[in-house]
Amino acid sequence: MKFEQRKDLLGIKELQREEIDQILDTAVPMKDIIKRDIKKVPTLRGKAMVTIFYENSTRTRTSFELAGKYLSADTTNLAVSTSSVQKGESLKDTIRTIEMMGFDLMIMRHSMTGTPHYVARNTSMRVINAGDGANEHPTQALLDMYSIREKKGRLDGLKVAILGDILHSRVARSNIYGLSKYGCEVRVVGPSTLIPPGMEKMGVKAYYSLDEALNGVDVINVLRVQRERQEIGYFPSLDEYSDLYMLRTEHLLRAKDDVMILHPGPMNRGVEISSEVADGIQSAINEQVTNGVAIRMALLYMMMGGAKDEIAN
Ligand code: CP
Repeated sequence: MKFEQRKDLLGIKELQREEIDQILDTAVPMKDIIKRDIKKVPTLRGKAMVTIFYENSTRTRTSFELAGKYLSADTTNLAVSTSSVQKGESLKDTIRTIEMMGFDLMIMRHSMTGTPHYVARNTSMRVINAGDGANEHPTQALLDMYSIREKKGRLDGLKVAILGDILHSRVARSNIYGLSKYGCEVRVVGPSTLIPPGMEKMGVKAYYSLDEALNGVDVINVLRVQRERQEIGYFPSLDEYSDLYMLRTEHLLRAKDDVMILHPGPMNRGVEISSEVADGIQSAINEQVTNGVAIRMALLYMMMGGAKDEIAN
């Protein structure tokens, strides 16, 4: 199946491996565009996209907007906090209003699982899920996979540890779905309260000891401790969490020599990752941000119908 045949990108789970390959391959020339002095091509001239984020974002929203601008699409951000949503306008009416303005594509983040899916079923606009609750964050997983493939030259068969709050993480879920399609050995590690039951059904092995989990891994993807969800007391304190699970330089000795460190951001330095690791030579965290723009350019290009010859110029 060709990815372009899909109306929406709602999750990694439903994508076929060949569709992921198409997206990652398309992001390669997009990254070349980002490196140019003049980072603009006319490919999506006349197309219009809107970002609607019901949850905060720095990387995802800004990189989608920049990706659209680099491809010459008209980009708009609906600032939910100052919109008529605050006057009680329903989601359905908000979406219908946006649709009637003539947008081709909507990028949505929402705290409630399934909201972008509901919207996609009720609009003719194409919809990209920019994160729905603890369900999926497909564009994050795609940029993570792009970053790994770029550095390691492949995805197949790699050992990847995902560290931290697996329970609440849409990034973890999307990465697990994606990496599993390439035969990666995915391990999750963290406090038992933050690892949901049934991980083995997803083909993933759960670890509670950081040292054991990192043995021989090619990639460590460190997740943010979601402080806003900790009022229930998933662990006694942030100090205790960092004592047991903060990734430090000494932990990297357990992994492969060329281990690669990822973090989707935003980081809590000194909680889930030490600054030494975050800023160290094995860290690809800054590159992930650039790759996020390339992946989002690829998706906009594929979903809003760019012309191939204009990319090559
Ligand atoms: N990784 C990620 O989704 O970051 P933002 O919340 O800043 O978009």
